[in-house]
Amino acid sequence: MPVDVLVGLQWGDEGKGKIVDVLAPTYDVVARFQGGPNAGHTLTFDGIKHVLHQVPSGIFHAHILNVVGNGVVLDPFVFRTELQKLTDRGVDWSRNLYISKKAQLILPSHRSLDRISEEARGGDRIGSTLKGIGPTYQDKVGRAGLRVGDILLPDFKQRYQDTVARHAQLASFHGRELDIAAEEENFFSAVEFLRGLQLTDTEYLLNDLLNQGKRILAEGAQGSLLDIDFGTYPFVTSSSTVVAGACTGLGIAPRHIDKVYGITKAYCTRVGSGPFPTELHDEVGEQIRQAGREFGSTTGRPRRCGWIDLPALRYSIMLNGVTELHLMKADVLDEFAEINVCTHYRTADGQQTEQFPDLAGLQEAAPVYTALPGWQQNLNLVTDHEQLPAPLLSYVQFLESQLQVPVRIVSVGPDRVSTLHLN
Ligand code: GDP
Ligand code: IMO
Ligand code: MG
Repeated sequence: MPVDVLVGLQWGDEGKGKIVDVLAPTYDVVARFQGGPNAGHTLTFDGIKHVLHQVPSGIFHAHILNVVGNGVVLDPFVFRTELQKLTDRGVDWSRNLYISKKAQLILPSHRSLDRISEEARGGDRIGSTLKGIGPTYQDKVGRAGLRVGDILLPDFKQRYQDTVARHAQLASFHGRELDIAAEEENFFSAVEFLRGLQLTDTEYLLNDLLNQGKRILAEGAQGSLLDIDFGTYPFVTSSSTVVAGACTGLGIAPRHIDKVYGITKAYCTRVGSGPFPTELHDEVGEQIRQAGREFGSTTGRPRRCGWIDLPALRYSIMLNGVTELHLMKADVLDEFAEINVCTHYRTADGQQTEQFPDLAGLQEAAPVYTALPGWQQNLNLVTDHEQLPAPLLSYVQFLESQLQVPVRIVSVGPDRVSTLHLN
C-alpha cells in the first residue's frame, strides 16, 4: 500500500511543508490534492527559507515527481511567479513537475468575487485569503468552472469571456463591478506559460506509478478544522482537507492508502475568523505569537494563538484515521514554566465533553485545562531524541495517552535538520 497521506490536524500552518520536506527523500512522488494559493508551506534548509503555495513540497529533489492533482485550484499567475522564484534559486523543476488537466483554474474574476463576497458578509467575514478559492470551488461544484486542460482548446478565450460575463452578473447582484482590467494581461501570459508545462491526466500517471511499486506522499493543505464538511463551518475553506480528499483529489483508491501522518503544533493557531476555544487574548498568547513567529506565510496576517486542544485533535484524528502524530514547534514553548493542555470542554449546561462541538456549542464551550511542567530549556540545541528533556517527554506521553496515537516526530526548529524521530 504505497500511498501515505500527510494532513494538518488544526486550522492550518501546522508545519506540513517542513515535514513533507523531511519525509520526501523516502518517496518517489509528492502530490498535492486540494487547496491552491491559499496555502503557504515553508521549507527551510541550507540556511534558505522557501515558501511554496501551489508547487508540491518535493520539488527540491530531482528524483521526486511532483504532481498538482485534480483536486487543486490553480492560479496560473501565482504559479508562474512561484516557479520563476525557484528557477532564480537554481531549482530545475522542468522535468519533475506534472499538473492535472482536471485541476480548476482560478481566474482574476474569481479573486475579485472573493473580495466582493467577503465585503458583502459584513461582520460575518470568513477571513478568506482573497486568493479566489471559494468562488473557484463554487464554479467547480456548479459545473461551470474552467479546467487546466481547457487552456489547450482553440476556443479557450471565448470560454474565458463567457465565464467572466457570468461573474460580472454575480458581482452586480452585490451592486459591484469586477475589478480585473489590470490583471487580465498577466493572466493570459501566465496561461501561455502553463501551456508549455507537463499537463496530463495525473490520475493515470499516479496509478501507473503505483502499479510499478512507486511510493507516493500525498501533501494536504490547510487543516482538518478548515474542512468544508467537518471544519468550523462556515469559517472553513472550500475543499476536503481530510484524508478522503486525497482519493478524490488525486484519483487514488482508498485501498492504496497506508500511513496517515497527522501534523499538529505543540500549541494551536488560527488565521481568519471563526471559533477557537483555547485562544489566548493575553500576554501568553502574544508570547507564543512572538516566539513562534506566528504571522501568515501567505498573507502576513498575525495568527491567533492558544493552547493545544485535545477535543479538536481527537476529532481530527478520528476523521483522518491518523496512524502517527508529528508534534511541531515544541521549541516555541521553551520559556514556559507551565504548559496548558485542554483535555475536554465544559458545555453550557455544565456537562463535560471530550468531543468537538458544532459551531453553536463551540461558542459556549469552556476549555478545561491540565497544566504540565515546562522544560525551560533551549530545544534548538537538541540534536538527538535521547537529549530531549524529561518534561517534554512527559508532555509527549500525556498527549499519546490522551489521543491514543504515537508521536513519531518532535520538531524543534524550522530547519529540516531540527527534526527528532522518536522510536
Ligand atoms: P504549513 O502551512 O503547515 O506548511 O506551515 P507554515 O509554513 O505556514 O507555518 C509553519 C511555520 O513554522 C513556518 O514558518 C515554518 O518555518 C515554521 N516551523 C516549522 N516547524 C517548526 C519548528 O519546529 N519550530 C519552529 N520554531 N518553527 C517551525
Ligand atoms: P496552509 O496549507 C491557515 C484559512 C483562511 C480563512 C479560511 C478560508 O498554509 O496550512 P480561503 O482563502 O481558503 O477561502 O480562506 O481558511 N486558510 C488557512 N489558514 N493555513 C492555510 O493553508 C490556510 N488556507 C486557508 O485564513 O480563515
Ligand atoms: Mg501555511
